[in-house]
Amino acid sequence: MKFNDNFLWGGATAANQCEGGYNEDGRGLANVDVCPTGKDRSAVITGNLKMYDFDDDHFYPAKVAIDMYHNFRDDIKLFAEMGFKVYRMSIAWSRIFPNGDEETPNEKGLAFYDEIFNECKKYGIEPLVTICHFDCPMYLIKNYGGWRNRKMIGFYEKLCRTVFERYKGKVKYWITFNEINMILHAPFMGAGICFEEGENREKIKYQAAHHELVASAIATKIAREIDKDYKVGCMFAAGSAYPYSCNPKDVWEATKVDRESYFFIDVQARGKYPNYALKEMERKGITPVMEADDIDILRKYTVDFIAFSYYNSRCVRTDNSDDVAEGNLFASAKNPYLSYSQWGWPIDPLGLRITLNHIYDRYEKPLFIVENGLGVKDEINENGEIEDDYRIDYLREHIKAMRDAVNLDGVDLIGYTTWGPIDLVSAGSGEMEKRYGFIYVDRDNEGKGTLERRRKKSFYWYKKVIESNGSDLD
Ligand code: BG6
Repeated sequence: MKFNDNFLWGGATAANQCEGGYNEDGRGLANVDVCPTGKDRSAVITGNLKMYDFDDDHFYPAKVAIDMYHNFRDDIKLFAEMGFKVYRMSIAWSRIFPNGDEETPNEKGLAFYDEIFNECKKYGIEPLVTICHFDCPMYLIKNYGGWRNRKMIGFYEKLCRTVFERYKGKVKYWITFNEINMILHAPFMGAGICFEEGENREKIKYQAAHHELVASAIATKIAREIDKDYKVGCMFAAGSAYPYSCNPKDVWEATKVDRESYFFIDVQARGKYPNYALKEMERKGITPVMEADDIDILRKYTVDFIAFSYYNSRCVRTDNSDDVAEGNLFASAKNPYLSYSQWGWPIDPLGLRITLNHIYDRYEKPLFIVENGLGVKDEINENGEIEDDYRIDYLREHIKAMRDAVNLDGVDLIGYTTWGPIDLVSAGSGEMEKRYGFIYVDRDNEGKGTLERRRKKSFYWYKKVIESNGSDLD
């Protein structure tokens, strides 16, 4: 019961949740910078509260985050100490194009990522690069309305061409958009969209989704032209939806919930809008505006692999119960067979095997689990140690489920990167104290702390897991 010798073990971060250095070396302001902590965060990330700049009443965690901008050498060294084969990270768009619509890129921004890739190479770590992890230059939001505007495709295309050319030979694996289905649930964070009073929100979201889907296909085309060895993937927030009961109404609703996410991947992996989506849009009168070539581009440039995040399964019931559970992406019905994290997210390792099988059955393309983990409040004990056995237990059970999917079900899995191998800012809540890491970072929700790094017990455990290629999970 093990993995291929070239299985890619590692961890995943996103620029806005770890880099900080929000205004250094010419970087422009981005949507992710102006998402505050506290009660307004949810209204901001969903596009219901317009926040286009900083104010004195809020704390903005992305400004400093964990200051990886200045610490990346030491942090990557720690990843190497754990034996990482791959490091998933993202490029901050506004470091490369501070406004987003410039003719020429910001050399200092490009040079920063050169250094990161050089550092990875030093340790034999393969970078896996997300081109857009929720970020969008603020200038493009203020002046073009974010992804609701078709012009975004051109700006994104320029970003892709620039990084594909610049990092040729240094990077092999690319992901076009992080959790592309997030656009439906957090449109400001997912696509730089703020709503005006009385707008048809569904229509705007699906139009923006169309723009991102076409942009992703164009990126795939350009990547292949620039380097035939490039591997381009899509990425979505996964977690199969279970019907709460065998009542066919529950089963049908659960199918619809799954399709809401599969819709994106159906386009990116199969190359066309699925019929169920076309019909649904037609019924709602929200058919996206398309240009003549769009259908052809989507058909020709499908992805090489499918990446996804898995934190939890979902549960769907139709009897109007208000017994709900939180979770990545959105809340769903509470599943009585599962336990729950401190943030109320279901814990369902078998759900990972189920999800892997559902996705593989549907697409038959290589899969990559690029996020998985448990967000927890960690305590430092009197000896200065963090004994995070709960994290080890969570990961162990998920790795076992993944091992079963590979060995018993024949799922083709390229790799596994846990979310936040080093503690970082939570995307959903903006908190620092929702920790996922093997490495503790001394910083709290108010931005206090020394930023010192400290290895947790799970650090040594994950090192052993990687060393044994997933056979020693004790
Ligand atoms: C995914 C995102 O939604 O889940 C990450 O791709 C995010 O950016 C992760 O951090 C965990 O969610 P949270 O809200 O606990 O940070």
